Amino acid sequence: MTIDLAALPHDFLWGTATSAYQIEGAVAEDGRSPSIWDTFSHTPGKTAGDDHGDTACDHYHRWREDIALMRRLGTNAYRLSVAWPRVVPGGAGEVNTRGLDFYDRLVDALLEAGITPSVTLYHWDLPQVLQDRGGWPERDTAEHFASYASVVAERLGDRVTHWATLNEPLCSAWIGHLEGTMAPGWTDLTAAVRASYHLLLAHGLGMRAIRDNAPGAQVGIVNNLSTIHPASGRDEDLAAARRMDGHTNRWWLDPVHGRGFPSDMRELYGVDLPERPGDLDLIGAGLDWLGLNYYFPQTVADDPAAPAPHVRTVRRDGVPRTGMDWEIDPSGIEELLLRLADEYGARKLYVTENGSSFPDTVRPDGTVDDPERADYLTSHLAACASAARRGAPLAGYFAWSLLDNFEWAYGYDKRFGLVHVDYRTQVRTVKGSGRRYAEIIDAHGREREGRAEREGKGGREAA
Ligand code: FCB
Repeated sequence: MTIDLAALPHDFLWGTATSAYQIEGAVAEDGRSPSIWDTFSHTPGKTAGDDHGDTACDHYHRWREDIALMRRLGTNAYRLSVAWPRVVPGGAGEVNTRGLDFYDRLVDALLEAGITPSVTLYHWDLPQVLQDRGGWPERDTAEHFASYASVVAERLGDRVTHWATLNEPLCSAWIGHLEGTMAPGWTDLTAAVRASYHLLLAHGLGMRAIRDNAPGAQVGIVNNLSTIHPASGRDEDLAAARRMDGHTNRWWLDPVHGRGFPSDMRELYGVDLPERPGDLDLIGAGLDWLGLNYYFPQTVADDPAAPAPHVRTVRRDGVPRTGMDWEIDPSGIEELLLRLADEYGARKLYVTENGSSFPDTVRPDGTVDDPERADYLTSHLAACASAARRGAPLAGYFAWSLLDNFEWAYGYDKRFGLVHVDYRTQVRTVKGSGRRYAEIIDAHGREREGRAEREGKGGREAA
């Protein structure tokens, strides 16, 4: 499979992504307080094998080695998240300088290695103290997020220009408060809708806080979106697909594009939004870029008995799947990138996550060959390049993930890394997919040089 690399801009960001709780470990070091994920993962039965992030990839101590791995892959960007409970352990109020120091050093070392840091402020690790005061269903949490965002932006804003407020608020709201399989593990529609509102408010307040404290900042939000297909041509299933699109995509996209919350979904949830005058303007204040996390498409059928949005996911037979049992469909990423450009007028897009989990085997010689992950990567990159060719303003791609890591409720069973981690020894091994990524990045570099040369020659001849 060939990737139309010439369709990608010369300054394309080739990155990998991780998040704090999934890789850092060191949960009780240097003044960090527990987050809702420490609580959740230490509650028996909540994660596979009762796994937790206490040590994870020990990145808090091994970050230099991890930056060296990024260099080996040839990446020029890295998406990381800052842990709120390290920086403001009380959730609000006092700042923990030692926590900030960690990210300060990390950012310096990344820049020194020629790697652009892209900082996400919230990747699900709410300080437990704020959960104890009600968490995301409460407005105060959004206000506290803005103060925390100011602190981080003030400290790193002289070097970091690439900022995201939230990672996948859908998961925090719907999976954390409605389905209950992620922290804090609630199953309450009213709480979920209120959480979704305050998460987006946190985005709006946070965006303002970043811009005020980090001049020149480029601020965006990261959403996980899916293409949604109806299970049949029946009117009921077509309506179900429209509802699922509202629940998964439009609820998260419309407000941040100044369109307010979709009225069909407001009606469907039937929960009063805790709106105050001015909120929607803050939320819709305009993005510098939009981040797409794409993993799989979904097929849904009408199911009036199911909780909102009253759909049932249909498992299609005979389609390729990853180790997560997620359908593999690269056309979905292309379709979404084009939709964000056409329907929402996105001016700058990043694929902020995309990747696959498959069970890996370490060979006796210590190597890890993972052709399925390498193929997933290649086919999705080809689809991204095709979207760019068709006009989507795609400025970068961040592979999920640099390292195998703590995959939330799935624990350490599911491996998404381009680099294998032996959790017993913490030995890192670049997988075949990591080598494939390096080749693609290298090929883009050569393509770019060739282009520059041709243009240079053309320029001289024309002169
Ligand atoms: C996304 C999360 C990320 C990781 C991948 C597999 O939903 O943002 O942390 O777990 O899925």
